[in-house]
Amino acid sequence: MQAPSCPFPRMMRAVALQCLSVWLCSCATAASLAVLSSSGPADELNLLLFKSELSDPAGALSSWNTSNPLCRWRGVTCGRRHPERVVALNLNSSHLAGGRVSPFLGNLTFLRTLNLGDNDLGGQVPPELGRLSRLQVLNLSLNALQGSIPAALGRCTKLRVLNLRNNLLQGEIPVQIGSLENLEILNLFANNLSGQIPPSIANLSSLQTLNLGNNTLSGAIPSSFGCMPHLSLLSLQFNNLSGLIPPPIWNISSLKGLSVVGNALSGTIPAGAFANLPLLQLFYMSYNQFHGHVPAILANSSELQRIELGYNFFSGTVPPEVGGLQNLESLALSNNLLQATTPSDWNFMSTLSNCSQLQYLDLASNELGGMLPSSISNLSTSLVYLSLSRNRILGNIPERIGNLLQLQVLSLENNLLTGTLPSSLSILTNLGDLSLGRNNLSGSVLLTIGNLTQLSNLYLGYNTFSGSIPSTVGNLASLLNIDFSTNNLTGIIPSSLFNISTLSLGLDLSYNCLEGSIPSEIGNLKNLVEFRAASNRLSHEIPPTLGDCEILQNIYLQNNFLEGSIPPLLSRLKGLEILDLSSNKLSGQMPKFLEDLNTLHYLNLSFNNFIGEVPFTGIFTNATTVSVQGNDKLCGGIQDLHLPPCSFESSKKNKLLLKTIIIPLVAVLGVIFLVFFLLAWNKQRSNRNPSTASIQGYPSVSYLTLAKATNGFSTANLLGSGTFGSVYKGNLGGDRGDSANIVAIKVLKLQTPGALKSFTVECEAIRNTRHRNLVKIMTLCSSIDSKGDDFKAIVFEFMPNGSLEDWLHPDQNEEKHLDLLKRVSILLDVGYALDYLHSYGAAPIAHCDLKPSNVLLDVDLVAHVGDFGLARILTEGNSFPQNSTSSMGFRGTIGYAAPEYGAGNVISIQGDVYSYGILILEIVTGKRPTDSMFIQGLNLHKYAEMAIHGGVMDVVDMRLFSHIKKGSPATDDSSTFSRTYDPSDERRIDCTDLTS
Ligand SMILES: *[C@@H]1O[C@H](CO)[C@@H](O)[C@H](O)[C@H]1NC(C)=O
Ligand SMILES: *[C@@H]1O[C@H](CO)[C@@H](O)[C@H](O)[C@H]1NC(C)=O
Repeated sequence: MQAPSCPFPRMMRAVALQCLSVWLCSCATAASLAVLSSSGPADELNLLLFKSELSDPAGALSSWNTSNPLCRWRGVTCGRRHPERVVALNLNSSHLAGGRVSPFLGNLTFLRTLNLGDNDLGGQVPPELGRLSRLQVLNLSLNALQGSIPAALGRCTKLRVLNLRNNLLQGEIPVQIGSLENLEILNLFANNLSGQIPPSIANLSSLQTLNLGNNTLSGAIPSSFGCMPHLSLLSLQFNNLSGLIPPPIWNISSLKGLSVVGNALSGTIPAGAFANLPLLQLFYMSYNQFHGHVPAILANSSELQRIELGYNFFSGTVPPEVGGLQNLESLALSNNLLQATTPSDWNFMSTLSNCSQLQYLDLASNELGGMLPSSISNLSTSLVYLSLSRNRILGNIPERIGNLLQLQVLSLENNLLTGTLPSSLSILTNLGDLSLGRNNLSGSVLLTIGNLTQLSNLYLGYNTFSGSIPSTVGNLASLLNIDFSTNNLTGIIPSSLFNISTLSLGLDLSYNCLEGSIPSEIGNLKNLVEFRAASNRLSHEIPPTLGDCEILQNIYLQNNFLEGSIPPLLSRLKGLEILDLSSNKLSGQMPKFLEDLNTLHYLNLSFNNFIGEVPFTGIFTNATTVSVQGNDKLCGGIQDLHLPPCSFESSKKNKLLLKTIIIPLVAVLGVIFLVFFLLAWNKQRSNRNPSTASIQGYPSVSYLTLAKATNGFSTANLLGSGTFGSVYKGNLGGDRGDSANIVAIKVLKLQTPGALKSFTVECEAIRNTRHRNLVKIMTLCSSIDSKGDDFKAIVFEFMPNGSLEDWLHPDQNEEKHLDLLKRVSILLDVGYALDYLHSYGAAPIAHCDLKPSNVLLDVDLVAHVGDFGLARILTEGNSFPQNSTSSMGFRGTIGYAAPEYGAGNVISIQGDVYSYGILILEIVTGKRPTDSMFIQGLNLHKYAEMAIHGGVMDVVDMRLFSHIKKGSPATDDSSTFSRTYDPSDERRIDCTDLTS
């Protein structure tokens, strides 16, 4: 390139040309930036170059343009003495993404603060930042920075704060960090840093916070670490550090918090450890290999609030001096080797009653023995968590345990406790977890246990409780898990137990003496994963409603007196893994569906009275996962099961032949003949008479009529196809091309599981609805097709303008456009339809699958909501979600369905409102919620939300502007829009200016 005559200063031109060659792809932008900034200072250009590499979905940098003075740009602060120089750049939490911390920032040599924390910046930390000799604060935390920490940062000797936490930085911590003599905060938490901690860090005599936690640093803690006279917080947690704690650490008298949790550190804590740490509040050493005693003189550190020493090898007794810590809130000593044998070993429990702030006390999994002191009921009334589980503690649960009114977790399981449940237990209404299992507790389960309405886990198993299960347990409406197993409980299973619709983790009643039948209400437990009631005296049949617990994985009912056959409805348990029905009195054939349950991996049907042939496929192919022994009348199956063959060749006795073959054969042939006859008759009848099929309330049409209307369901007539059905355009008026006779015909794909249900649901849902914005159902057809198979179809009014989907996302060569007014009126139409469905019927109806392809447009572009195949009538005349739980599996369409449908299957009208919200956003932005740009946590609603503050025009569907641009002069907003983003806007891009 020849040096042309150029109106700009030489340097600026050089920069512009350089940028042209470096960012070939963004040539035009960078060059035009250079042109525009021709008169401005270097800082402005460097910032524009920084911006040019970023994507800025929230429009945080929309003020960054040359028509705005540099010092008015968002996040930019200029100097007082050098007003053209930037001294601070503050773009914390601005949703910047797709770019990097630009090396050009290293040119802002007056910078004192650089804060780009909490964005989504990638790339490396540029070594060029080492040029910022005035820099005091560097915050690049919470980004996605990679590579290593550049040694050049050691040249920013004015740095007070260096915060790089929560990035992806690797490699070692450079020793040069030790030169930052003014550093007060060094935070490298949660990266992938490795290697040893450089001892030079101990030179940082101004350091107050040193956080190197959650990396993979190894080696020992440098022994020089005692020399930081102002250190207040030291965290080295979750690394691979080993060796001892260097003794000088116990002399850092400024220390308020120390965490070395989750390393492989060893050694003891010296007896006088706390004597010189008067300010210490937080002391975290869990998950290491420390041993020796818990230091007794804890009391010197009167500020101590939290002590966590769990998961080590501490031994000896708990020092009673701990009770002198007036501010103690949490004492966690679980999983050590702590002991107690004599009553005096328990003295700490009475001294702890002085700690009025105590909320958390965990002594689980130690070697505490002796009698449980009744002083535990004198602990602070602030206590929220108390665990003494997995010890060897004797005695009774103190009667006054009810004093601990705030208690949320009471965990005493796995001890040697005796006696009955104290009645004051039922005062603890904040309890969420009551674990008293594996003790020798006796007596009856308190009737008042029903008062503990916050309980989510009730574990009373492995005791000797007697009497019956109180029906008040049914009041515990938050329970996730019940374990009453291995007690001496008698009586029947109260059906109230099955009102607890939250019950999900498990219901364990096994090894008791329960009798009677399994109540059919068990079908209410739609979220239950495991049901155990083995080894009781349960009788009668297995209730078919068990098949309603559709996410059940494990069923243990062995060793009871159950009779009858396996209910066919259990075939609905599609996730069944373990089924043990052994040692009952069950009979009948081995049900066919067991072969088809492909998650099943343990099936025990042994010692029952099952008869007939054992199948060969599915679970039955493996004799190690199936057990059928002790059923005398079974035959067949794979060889390893060692059953007699279901042989038809035993020609010895012709009588037997007659009995086993000929009679059934004749019977079967007869039945087949009968069926054929009926089918043929039925077909003829339905061909003759168009109104044979009858579904209440609608006139019906015949298969033949519909076949004729659609040219034999030809693909030319196919409008679309979904999971449950295909939709055809049809003409019911025969040859007359009268548009009034044009209809849409949805033919159900009956071979798809659930299609029949969707048909019924759809009919039911539309039966009593009538609204101008709902698709009108004209007639139904339930008949038999030309091959004699079942045929079901729904006939709708035809929508000549197709679906909203076609209009929002037309094919490339289609000329379809909805202006703003039209879009708003469609949204109103849909809103009216939903309101009607939700509020005006006999019972509210949730549509459950609202999306653009289900919004159909008539000839005037009036919207009609259609496709009720997933709809649900919320019974009992109200819309409380808990009254309408369903476990039909995932409802609706990904992207449009409310998130809770994925998790809990709670159907509600609120779910429709969520989908409606997504629909609004899609109509306004023109982007599908499933657009490929929505990755890594970005989704349509976040995308729109980010734009609310000043960037709305950046996310609005561009097509909405097509008229505004062509027609009237552009408004202020839309001109910003086109200047920043519209590459087709030629006026702004002036490469010719540069080279001429
Ligand atoms: C700015 O920084 C870049 C990259 O670090 C460098 O190449 C360029 O020469 C600098 N420009 C100015 C004007 O300082
Ligand atoms: C730190 O690491 C621990 C252990 O791996 C982990 O449980 C914790 O969530 C991590 N903390 C953060 C904020 O990443």
